Formats: sequence, C-alpha cells, structure tokens
Amino acid sequence: MTEAGGSTSGPAVPAGRLVVLVSGSGSNLQALLDAGLPVVAVVSNRRQAYALERAAAHDVATEVVSLKSFTDTGRTRRDFDAHVADVVAAHRPDYVVLAGWMHLLSSAFLDRFPDRVVNLHPALPGTFPGAHALQDAFDAYREGRITETGVMVHLVPDEGVDNGPVLATVTVPIEPGDSLESLTERVHAAEHRLLVATVRGLLDELLARP
Ligand code: GAR
Repeated sequence: MTEAGGSTSGPAVPAGRLVVLVSGSGSNLQALLDAGLPVVAVVSNRRQAYALERAAAHDVATEVVSLKSFTDTGRTRRDFDAHVADVVAAHRPDYVVLAGWMHLLSSAFLDRFPDRVVNLHPALPGTFPGAHALQDAFDAYREGRITETGVMVHLVPDEGVDNGPVLATVTVPIEPGDSLESLTERVHAAEHRLLVATVRGLLDELLARP
C-alpha cells in the first residue's frame, strides 16, 4: 500500500512529507495542493503572502519567519537561516520545496537538508538567475538573443543562485505577439505542471527505496 489517506477513489496521494517555502502569491503551492501532494506545512518570509491563505484554505499548517526580527536584534542572516531550518525540521520533511521563496539560503539552512531542497525557477539552466528571470528573458527576446525560455526544477546543494543539479526542465516558446504578461502566464502554467510532476516523481522514488 503506497497511498496515504486510505481513500479508494480519486487520484493516488503519494506518501511523504513536503514543506513548501513561499514569499508571494503561491500559485505553485496551489498546484501542489490541487494535485493532492502531501504538503504538511507552508513557511513564508512575508506575512502578507497570499500563499499563506491558500495553505490555510487547505488546512495546511503555516509559519511566518522574519529576517527583519533577526537583523533588528543584532543577529545575522545565518542565525535566521538556522531558525528557518529549525521551523522546517519540526515538520519532518522528506523534501523542502522552494516555490517562489525569495530569500537566498545559506549553508546554515542547506546543510540541514542535504539532497532534499528543491527549487523552482522560471528560466532554463544557466540563464537568467535571480528574482527577475521573466523580465530578463523577455528583454533578451526583444533584443533577438533568444527565441525561447523555460522552467527548471533543481536541487539546491549550496548558495549558488538558481543553480544546482537539474531534476527537470521544459522549454517555453516566446511568440512574436507576446507581452511580458502573456509570456508570464504561459511560463507559470508550465511551472505548475513541471513542479507537480517532478515532486511527485521524487516522492515515488523515495517510496520505491528499499
Ligand atoms: C515562480 O515563477 C517561481 O518560479 C519564481 O517565483 C514565482 C512564484 O510564483 N521563483 C524564482 O524566481 C526563484 N528565483 P508563485 O508564488 O505564484 O508560485
């Protein structure tokens, strides 16, 4: 029996525990929730993140962590990252999924979850790292430097920005009539599919391990 939840109808829900880190809207979190993946907690570094409402609507535990409360009291970014690791570890994740998490994690966090931190980024490997990947890709298209962009899901072994062993990619063509908005919409749709498929695959692999 590899299904959690005991239901005999509907899509199979893989066993396992996911903690999802977010900073914003959480449309990718929503895709994981809608796919029935086992999200046990959502951690946000922004109290106003709409992702927190999405989690609450699915009765998923939420936590808010504040870098400012650390730096205001003379503590460091590494102290903050160690705190985030404690918060995450309390939920005993099999995987930690960074789904629009806009804070660079140091080894104070990453070393606690080796091979278990997964990042989603709206660009192909080696292109457009950082928080403005879609704008950067759209600009590159207009300057004739690219004809397509894409999405990747990768492991996060170290402090490299949107860089690490690639788990999955998908290309997204850019159309002559595209605006930044229409491209963004198409990339987001691709992200939702790729993230769900990749995380589902990781959980299935985990279950298949002896
Ligand atoms: C997504 O496009 C994700 O790939 C991106 O933030 C967005 C979050 O959207 N992440 C990065 O740019 C990481 N460098 P969401 O909050 O609607 O899921």
